[in-house]
Amino acid sequence: MNRPDPAVAPPSLSEELRAALPELRALAVDLASDAGRLVVRERAAALAGSGAVDTKSTATDVVTVMDRRSEQHLRGRLARERPGERVLGEEEGVDVRHQAREGEALTWVLDPIDGTVNYLYGSSEYAVSVAAVLGDPTRADRWWPVVGAVAHPATSRVFHAHLGGGAALSGPDGSTDLTCSSAERLDLTLLSTGFGYDAAVRREQARALVEILPEVRDIRRAGSAALDMCRVAAGLVDAYAERGVHVWDVAAGWLVAAEAGAQVSTWDGGPSRPRGVLACPPAVYPALEALVSRAYAHACRVLETSDR
Ligand code: IPD
Repeated sequence: MNRPDPAVAPPSLSEELRAALPELRALAVDLASDAGRLVVRERAAALAGSGAVDTKSTATDVVTVMDRRSEQHLRGRLARERPGERVLGEEEGVDVRHQAREGEALTWVLDPIDGTVNYLYGSSEYAVSVAAVLGDPTRADRWWPVVGAVAHPATSRVFHAHLGGGAALSGPDGSTDLTCSSAERLDLTLLSTGFGYDAAVRREQARALVEILPEVRDIRRAGSAALDMCRVAAGLVDAYAERGVHVWDVAAGWLVAAEAGAQVSTWDGGPSRPRGVLACPPAVYPALEALVSRAYAHACRVLETSDR
């Protein structure tokens, strides 16, 4: 996964960009909500058609016609409302006409449907995620989210944040500021997680869970990394940890969780292993980070030995 590295300071923001963040946040909220309405409205008709579902990295990694339509819709609106800005989306990748630029150039990072398997099955746990990041989200450790919105279309609600501006949940009943839980004890921490699509990755994740599950309150696997991070922000779970997620899965949720007071970072899962993302209240962070690092390092050793 490409991720922001908290050890590398984000570029300092100009007064001009800082002043523009509330407006960019409002745009991200509008974009995510708008695409959310689209995917709800057109789901039945789109999935009924032939060729409605395709596969990507594995047979279980699905992409629906609505993932593609939602991304095209978001790209179309961004082309009109933020012309010339770079866009990176889960389905179409990065727009090659716009090279990565240093300084304060923004890239919009889109997950047109996060939780596609839930969407396919008609389960409500899916989201549209829109973030604006500084740096280069195609490179590990070189991007920093400054605006994020995660729409949960099934409830007509949207989680949102901007850097230094706090996190909130807005919906038909108004807006509420978000604060993560005050969990301090590892054994009382409710931890959400997710699984990749690749069988080898899943084997490692399952093996690590054998070490993690006895040490925490319980595990939740809902099916959308973006919503998992927002649920940390809202205190609906205490923590979220997952290996192997992509920048579009977590860019917006990362900022929402961080602005709600969570410590959000990556952890080392062992030598030359892709790191994971961890979000939780600061008081429980050291113990949880140590647990997941140990669990993944152990999982890797066990699986390497059993492969020999
Ligand atoms: C997936 C979801 C899932 C997570 C996977 C992601 P997608 O995204 O966020 O919760 O466990 O790692 O790939 O494929 O539904 O966009």
